[in-house]
Amino acid sequence: MTEITSVLFVCLGNICRSPMAEAVFQSVIDKRNYSSNFRVDSAGTADYHVCKQDFYEFDYILCMDESNLQDLRSIQPANSKAVVKLFGKYDSEKDEIIRDPYYGGVDGFDYNFAQVTRCSHGFLKSLSIV
Ligand code: 4NP
Repeated sequence: MTEITSVLFVCLGNICRSPMAEAVFQSVIDKRNYSSNFRVDSAGTADYHVCKQDFYEFDYILCMDESNLQDLRSIQPANSKAVVKLFGKYDSEKDEIIRDPYYGGVDGFDYNFAQVTRCSHGFLKSLSIV
């Protein structure tokens, strides 16, 4: 039986950073033929996409900035299993905050893309399956 690791990426709007993180991580695992080992999804805190059930269903809830982290910690049920942390903790360049690009220019999105790519590799490595 294949063990499935479930990962939920979370930002504020679920428009920019978490869908990008989901797509990039999915691409990384697809290329390595690991997609059957994962369930990957994304959500935002602004519209209350993240429900209490998610904290029981997902192994990892990886968010983008301190504000997301605070919001998630404030609703995480005490006995839930999810590891809630900054996705940027897996950045090999140690830039832990994946900043909101929404009100800035394209450079912010380019930077986010490079950052979530590094973090995706770092996260996969941390799971000790590569
Ligand atoms: P995200 O960016 O959290 O990376 O999806 C944002 C998208 C939309 C808004 C804020 C942040 N907004 O206020 O609509």
